[in-house]
Amino acid sequence: MNVVMIGAGYVGLVSGACFSEFGANVICVDVDPARIDRLSAGEMPIYEPGLKSLVQRNFDAGRLAFTTELADAVSAADLVFIAVGTPTRRGEGYADLGYVYQAAKDIAGHLSGYTVVVDKSTVPVGTAAEVKRIISEANPEADFDVASNPEFLREGAAISDFMRPDRVVLGVESERAEKSLRELYRPLNLIEAPIVVTDLESAELIKYAANAFLATKISFINEISQLCEAVGADVHSVAKGMGLDGRIGKKFLHAGPGYGGSCFPKDTLALVRTAQEHGVSSRIVEAVVEVNAAQKARMVKKIRGALDESLSGKRIAVLGLTFKPETDDMRDSPALTILPQLIDRGADIVAHDPQGIEEAKPLLPQQVSYSDDIYATIEGADAVVLMTEWNAYRGLHFDRVKTLMRGDVFVDLRNVYEPETMRALGFKYSCVGR
Ligand code: NAI
Repeated sequence: MNVVMIGAGYVGLVSGACFSEFGANVICVDVDPARIDRLSAGEMPIYEPGLKSLVQRNFDAGRLAFTTELADAVSAADLVFIAVGTPTRRGEGYADLGYVYQAAKDIAGHLSGYTVVVDKSTVPVGTAAEVKRIISEANPEADFDVASNPEFLREGAAISDFMRPDRVVLGVESERAEKSLRELYRPLNLIEAPIVVTDLESAELIKYAANAFLATKISFINEISQLCEAVGADVHSVAKGMGLDGRIGKKFLHAGPGYGGSCFPKDTLALVRTAQEHGVSSRIVEAVVEVNAAQKARMVKKIRGALDESLSGKRIAVLGLTFKPETDDMRDSPALTILPQLIDRGADIVAHDPQGIEEAKPLLPQQVSYSDDIYATIEGADAVVLMTEWNAYRGLHFDRVKTLMRGDVFVDLRNVYEPETMRALGFKYSCVGR
């Protein structure tokens, strides 16, 4: 099968590489020439474990190619996926569909023979219908169907998520489109991955509902963590005791600094806007968004409290900047909210991150300094704040940490360490909900 992937970002690149691994001929198209040049030279524009070798293998086998020119690729395609960004429209909360609609316009004139145009981007209900309208208007002769195939991969585990998904969701408007998509995903039949076939609108909503539900679990446990602190309970035990109930499940019950990343913040806001547009309430999701903002503010308070309320002249070593480990993605990372507030209060910040420093630099205040060595970051610090639970921070040599630090404050926003152990080591240790 010939597949075109419009957008070679986290989702487009991983999906394109995985489809080529399934045996399809895939051409990834991106408007960013620098990105395409790097990919064609075997360099990855993003950090994702396992991606480089997967791309290289399929590129060498001639099943995966990169270009900025979509005309020929689209003409030969059986399926064209749209995997471009759908960020929040600044200050409004609506999903910005400009890139999706531009991609639809770009491909319209080049469709040739029956083609399925598939939205892989996370898009509000009605977007596939609008993509259909745009293409039909631009090219009334085009023989095509639209489909919705939302993506559920997680950055940091993207390839295994794509190769072994909990489910594949296909929103289709015709049997022909379903057949084509099923054929593309056929290798997943071997592992009996469930395929949910539904209408376009339901497929579009499944993605938002799933992300909003996961965000709800996070905000829920974060709110409970605050109660744990107030009553002297341990959020680890509470989450474990809750999560062993099969109806609840253990995942996404880790208290922390609030969710971030390229999906939950924008997708929860977009779901609220969609509900508003249809005159329907979305009070739970609105509360989830509010609780998440409050949790980040609470983390600033926690850090201030640990340093006796005065941050002026205090040196804070920040371990981890990305919104989660194993990615270089800084989009909506809690660090982007928390660090500027610490700086405003006079703190002197040195930050370490195994992959995210280059991404972080343009997004954080210029006063932040960076180090690529964990112990150099910690040297002279009054406090260490563990922001992201990278494996590199799980086995710190505490004798060395203590000798290097000026102070003894350790704020663990990911509950990586045991409070008793840390206090026995002589740290003024605080964490979330324990
Ligand atoms: P991204 O920002 O990493 O990549 C988007 C790419 O599309 C960029 O390289 C950009 O240059 C390119 N692009 C924009 N307009 C184009 C056009 N007209 N033609 C060709 N290329 C174009 O975005 P990411 O993270 O891959 O997200 C894409 C979509 O997937 C979003 O809707 C997102 O919500 C969704 N998603 C993202 C996940 C993630 O973990 N990043 C997971 C699941 C869904």
